[in-house]
Amino acid sequence: MATRRGSASALLALLMCIGLAACESKPAPEQPKTTDARSVHFTAAGDTGVEEGAEAVLDKIKELSPDFNLHLGDMSYSNVPEQQFCDMVTGKLGKDFPYQLLAGNHESDGLQGDIEKFAECLPNKLPGLKGEYAKQWYVDMPQERPLVRVIMLSPGIPFEGGDELDYSEGSERWKWTENAINSAHEAKIPWTVVGMHTPCFSIGRYSCDAGRELTNMLVKKKVDLVLNGHEHIYQRTKQLATSVSCREMEARKGCMADTDDSLDKGKGTVFVTSGLGGRNIRPINHGDEEKPYFAAWSGSNEDPAMGTVDVRVTGSRMDVKFVPADGYTFTDSFSISR
Ligand SMILES: [Fe+2]
Repeated sequence: MATRRGSASALLALLMCIGLAACESKPAPEQPKTTDARSVHFTAAGDTGVEEGAEAVLDKIKELSPDFNLHLGDMSYSNVPEQQFCDMVTGKLGKDFPYQLLAGNHESDGLQGDIEKFAECLPNKLPGLKGEYAKQWYVDMPQERPLVRVIMLSPGIPFEGGDELDYSEGSERWKWTENAINSAHEAKIPWTVVGMHTPCFSIGRYSCDAGRELTNMLVKKKVDLVLNGHEHIYQRTKQLATSVSCREMEARKGCMADTDDSLDKGKGTVFVTSGLGGRNIRPINHGDEEKPYFAAWSGSNEDPAMGTVDVRVTGSRMDVKFVPADGYTFTDSFSISR
């Protein structure tokens, strides 16, 4: 009987509920929102040398207190022992600071220092790094529930024996790169950043040493940010994207997804050259046909500065700045939001 009475009252309650808004499922009690307050902060600069400019930029990096720094290649520019460069860095930033290396053309083939030796005295400090440190590697930061995958590549520069690494379409290194980007997207890591010593787009002195095919691939895969050194200037492109009207990148409006300082994630790729790490400052070529690509620049003939790029990412936002070393005034900043 008890069971039948129970069933009857449940049925009655159900019938009463039909059509009564009051019986609709009540909202769950207020839960504190689990906003992801985590962030990752890093700096990136190449082309340092071992003189006062390098020290001034290292002082600024110390002041900014990032989680890690990306060296974008070209370290000592001399045949002083590699250890001297490493001692300069660790003297400023400490022995435990992750000062992460990527070869530039001055040390990739041992011409002015040997990248292998730089990598011995400034070894990888980031857990979970995959690939060949200082040459072709990636790392997720933080390691648990990453906010950003940083992928470092070495196209367009000679290694031992004078040969460039093969990043042509379909090559092993191309596939490695493609997989690093795809798997970051599949793992829903919010941001992808690629670093390479050589730029493709430039209003300095070099042409597309990084290679058009590889650069187009990065754009097509909507890498959020590409960081380069090599040119001893600062230059930042607009947000570039391929589309039906822009199948391959060209310096025209159809290839630019957005042109201001406030960008939407997933619309395209911004290329930033941070080559003012201390060595010297070279001029901007205002007559360069790629000028329409660019949104901001600094060189010896226009607001010269030494300094570093500073990047902060959260789950919803990437903020990128150029921060000058003390004594310089040029700054630049833009953001990408999800
Ligand atoms: Fe350089």
